[in-house]
Amino acid sequence: MKVDVVLGLQWGDEGKGKIVDVLTPKYDVVARFQGGPNAGHSLEFGGNKYVLNTIPSGIFHEHCINIIGNGVVVDPVQLKKEIEKAETTGVNIRKNLYISEKAHVILPTHRLVDAASEAYKGVHKVGSTLRGISPTYQDKIGRSGLRIGDLIGKNFLSKYQTAVSNHKKLLDSLNYEYNLAEHEPAFFEAVEYLKQFKIVNSEYFVNQLISDGKKVLAEGAQGTLLDIDFGSYPFVTSSNTITGGACSGLGIAPQKINKVFGIFKAYCTRVGNGPFPTEQENETGELLRKLGHEFGATTGRPRRTGWLDLPGLKYAIMLNGVTDLICTKSDVLSGFEEVQVCDSYKIGSDISSQIPFDLLDETVIPQYKSFPGWKEDLTKIREYSQLPETFKTYIDYVEKQIEVPINIISVGPDREETIHKN
Ligand code: IMP
Repeated sequence: MKVDVVLGLQWGDEGKGKIVDVLTPKYDVVARFQGGPNAGHSLEFGGNKYVLNTIPSGIFHEHCINIIGNGVVVDPVQLKKEIEKAETTGVNIRKNLYISEKAHVILPTHRLVDAASEAYKGVHKVGSTLRGISPTYQDKIGRSGLRIGDLIGKNFLSKYQTAVSNHKKLLDSLNYEYNLAEHEPAFFEAVEYLKQFKIVNSEYFVNQLISDGKKVLAEGAQGTLLDIDFGSYPFVTSSNTITGGACSGLGIAPQKINKVFGIFKAYCTRVGNGPFPTEQENETGELLRKLGHEFGATTGRPRRTGWLDLPGLKYAIMLNGVTDLICTKSDVLSGFEEVQVCDSYKIGSDISSQIPFDLLDETVIPQYKSFPGWKEDLTKIREYSQLPETFKTYIDYVEKQIEVPINIISVGPDREETIHKN
């Protein structure tokens, strides 16, 4: 039995939450392998909308084991809030949620350091979600982080104090004003609260589940173009968002990976700063944002919008070894007179379909191919054959360019609004 992976191929917000939720009935286990509460995975069913930040998207399925893997960074305060909210739906979180003892903990001071360093960078800021992600991963790599297992260990308080005193030095050096006392009570309360959950050695646990023949889905967060190594550095998140991240973020060997579901939106969006070659800072971009409700699920920030970028998509498919493609938010393009796709970049006098070293330093001019739009509302369609011919021409072109079959087309946020193509 092997592990399938599902992840985003763009700058995040590709609609992963919904797709994991659609795929989950086929799996016994859903495991998050990186990122933290910077993610916002939206799920809609039965007329209600839920946003998950740290909890894996399989939690609303009664039969499904959900694991927060070692590669994830966990904010106890956020997780407590999230659990309490999810529990109002009647779902049994205590039974189905497992947290890796090796996942790193986001401390209140990590969030303060995140805010302080972004403020210090001024116009050069990354545009982080201010959830403390980067400082927590910095401490992990710097070998001074606290892990979930430490919360139940007897040296927790002294480890906490050491970390906090380091962070205070940093905050002072950045001249950042803060009041830690405002944040600590909620943090310690949440730490106590989390102790009632299953804190496990998740690498043994997940490998045992695999040996027992259970079907495991590894759930990525953010997107490939935000990967710490391959994204548009330094405008990236601080973890490996690609398939390789599932191995290190869960403790599973590479040969255990089977299918890789790559999710892409029929157009592109990006939150925060950084290069975005196909960005439309015009009426088209406004319309994409309006029709696609492109506002951050976690921060509420308006997302930047633009046309589909095939060089970026091909790069992501290569890095991840994508076997199955899933196109989301196709319905949003209904009503555009014309739909464009960038199939290469002009860089100087060269035409290239590769991503250059630094997208910001180059004068990258996207080369577009234009398609006639379609007027039909796609949200009620459930069969591929019933989709407008103009839409199929667009999808056929994309599929030919990227050389991987598109298996699922999502035509709306609800579980039901899904077309299985092949
Ligand atoms: P951080 O991960 O909060 O440090 O943010 C780094 C960059 O990644 C910023 O540009 C964020 O807007 C972006 N980012 C982080 N998480 C997400 C996500 O889940 N969706 C989209 N963008 C994200």
